[in-house]
Amino acid sequence: MSSLVLPAHLEPPTRLLSSDNASGAHPLVLQALTDANSGHALAYGNDRYTHNAETAFSELFDADVITRFAFGGTGANVMALANMLQPAEAVVCSSWSHIAVDEAGAPERFLGAKLIDLPSADAKLRPSDLHSLEHLFGSEHHVQPRVVSITQATELGTLYTAQEVKDLCAAAHDMNMLVHMDGARICNAVGALGGSREALRSFTIDAGVDVLTFGGTKTGLVFGEAVVFLNTALASRSLYIRKQSTQLYSKMRYISAQYLAFLQDDLFIKLGCASNAAAQSLYDQVRHIKSLNLTAPPVVNSIYPVLEPAVHKALQDWSFYWDWDAKTNQVRWMTAWDVEDSDISRFVQGVQALLPS
Ligand SMILES: Cc1ncc(COP(=O)(O)O)c(C=O)c1O
Repeated sequence: MSSLVLPAHLEPPTRLLSSDNASGAHPLVLQALTDANSGHALAYGNDRYTHNAETAFSELFDADVITRFAFGGTGANVMALANMLQPAEAVVCSSWSHIAVDEAGAPERFLGAKLIDLPSADAKLRPSDLHSLEHLFGSEHHVQPRVVSITQATELGTLYTAQEVKDLCAAAHDMNMLVHMDGARICNAVGALGGSREALRSFTIDAGVDVLTFGGTKTGLVFGEAVVFLNTALASRSLYIRKQSTQLYSKMRYISAQYLAFLQDDLFIKLGCASNAAAQSLYDQVRHIKSLNLTAPPVVNSIYPVLEPAVHKALQDWSFYWDWDAKTNQVRWMTAWDVEDSDISRFVQGVQALLPS
């Protein structure tokens, strides 16, 4: 492989296009943490921040939902699923799903449950996927599918429409299954599907989702996730399960205060929209470079160009981003809520220096 390097005068972007997890926390979230830091508050969620944040989630969904805060995304997913499963029951998911691929087997180990991960070209599940499992039901030799877990936006940067979630939920419920939504990137999904609270409701509570992991870490929080029981009947054991699954944070006000700021004036939607807009801007500035093979604009906050290996290495050494599929030379460029125009234009200058059109 011949070795290419970027011209020395080209400054890499200040903010990476590697992952939304590389981003900082929003100033209003940091301010909320500072404000919550004054004085004492009772531990384990018996504080006004947690009470107010729980109320804010009920207002968000326009229903008396039950919200349980957790430390991180993997733990929140495990905790959510633990409330939905009995022994000998299984979780159905796509083979791209974070729970199947990127959680080091945590769901299998802690839930003691099988994950039935179904192949899917776009990381989405469809009613026909569920129907393909019908032969498992009612046979004592087979694990019983009980939860369908979908990711919104998906691990491949695709989205379910509200109607698609509704159809999937209807099929799942018809088959006596429940639906969990991993919303680690729910802010991006809301941004892309209408940018309003009504839009959020349309593909969650109104569509029939039972339990939602409402992520914040990728979109402006320091840490913390919320497991929202839209189907409150499933929350009857949730306090004990949260503790048992090691997700009960004693100083919970520091998670709740962040979520209060996040939901206030729909900050979470604004940040999801900003992240998506940065990806659209990146796409607009490189789409004319044919060798990148960018066939469609981003749906949310990532694009997946193809780069010849020498170009890829030079660019990645200069401004880090993740490989995606080594077999096809595909990489992932991902934006975050705090990526600025100057970051995009600097990155694009680097691309253009290696791939003059
Ligand atoms: C789809 C999805 N779910 C959940 C998570 C949360 O994982 P973590 O345990 O790293 O917070 C991530 C993080 O990358 C993710 O992409």
